Amino acid sequence: MTHRHYLQFKDFSRAEYDYLFARAAFIKQKFKGYDPHRSLFDRTLVMIFEKASTRTRLSFEAGIQQLGGTAIYLNTRDSQLGRGEPVYDSAQVISRMCDLIMIRTFEQTMVEQLAAASRVPVINGLTNEYHPCQVLADVFTFIEQRGAIQGKTVAWVGDANNMCNTWLQAAEVLDFKVHVSSPEGYGIHPDRLGLASSAHFETFADPMEACKGAHLVTTDVWTSMGFEAENEARKKAFADWCVDEEMMGVANRDAVFMHCLPAHRGEEVTAGVIDGPQSVVWDEAENRLHAQKALMEFLLLGQQPQ
Ligand code: CP
Ligand code: NVA
Repeated sequence: MTHRHYLQFKDFSRAEYDYLFARAAFIKQKFKGYDPHRSLFDRTLVMIFEKASTRTRLSFEAGIQQLGGTAIYLNTRDSQLGRGEPVYDSAQVISRMCDLIMIRTFEQTMVEQLAAASRVPVINGLTNEYHPCQVLADVFTFIEQRGAIQGKTVAWVGDANNMCNTWLQAAEVLDFKVHVSSPEGYGIHPDRLGLASSAHFETFADPMEACKGAHLVTTDVWTSMGFEAENEARKKAFADWCVDEEMMGVANRDAVFMHCLPAHRGEEVTAGVIDGPQSVVWDEAENRLHAQKALMEFLLLGQQPQ
């Protein structure tokens, strides 16, 4: 049996995203109206976490339960994954007992190996390289707040990490532009992202320049999970890459601010910005739930009539 996986943003087409965003809006509306939507009744999601999480665990676990299914949580500490059981063997066993797997881990290659051996769809819940579920929710949030993202400009200020890489892929699939500004040594490697061209991004040495005219300004922690040993060096290198009121001031008048969270006020963003009127971070976090419900349903049932 063939099935789809969601391992990086470019795994889906623009038409599929159009469907997913519309479906997420429909599912959200039903949720807000306390109208049960049990499209995944009796289905089981296994969630594997090799890194910490609040939002990803919550949104997947609540999401599958609200769709009528069940979630099982596994982590490296108390499963055989942490004791070196091969990924192939783990994938064989896990995928015989569930309908869907979500994994958060370190290397993207691990997720790819898991998917290759799995009998059920696999979702990337964050790797060192990508965080597609977050950008799925972020674009859904932008559309909800400001309409179509096509032709718009997103400013990425900070580390060229998993979130930045995913924004770069999203820009190509959905036809918008990303302005990236990162400190020297922490910049993008577009050649590693499987992009068709460099038409959808531009790099800037000065973060203020990157923010000029942007419709969405976004950032992330200076030190991602797995890179904690570099924390002190990163604090020095990133000192000027804090999204502040001045940066928001040069963005488009209607610009929104997003952050995947968790955030460090006073490091990558000021409290004034993240807690200010342009910030949509709480809607963004909530939308993980709705967008991933649409994603899980799509992977298991395909497109549904509305
Ligand atoms: N944004 C995000 O993925 O949050 P968690 O690390 O809490 O899951
Ligand atoms: N870039 C961050 C995102 C956390 C949700 C990390 O990988 O730790």
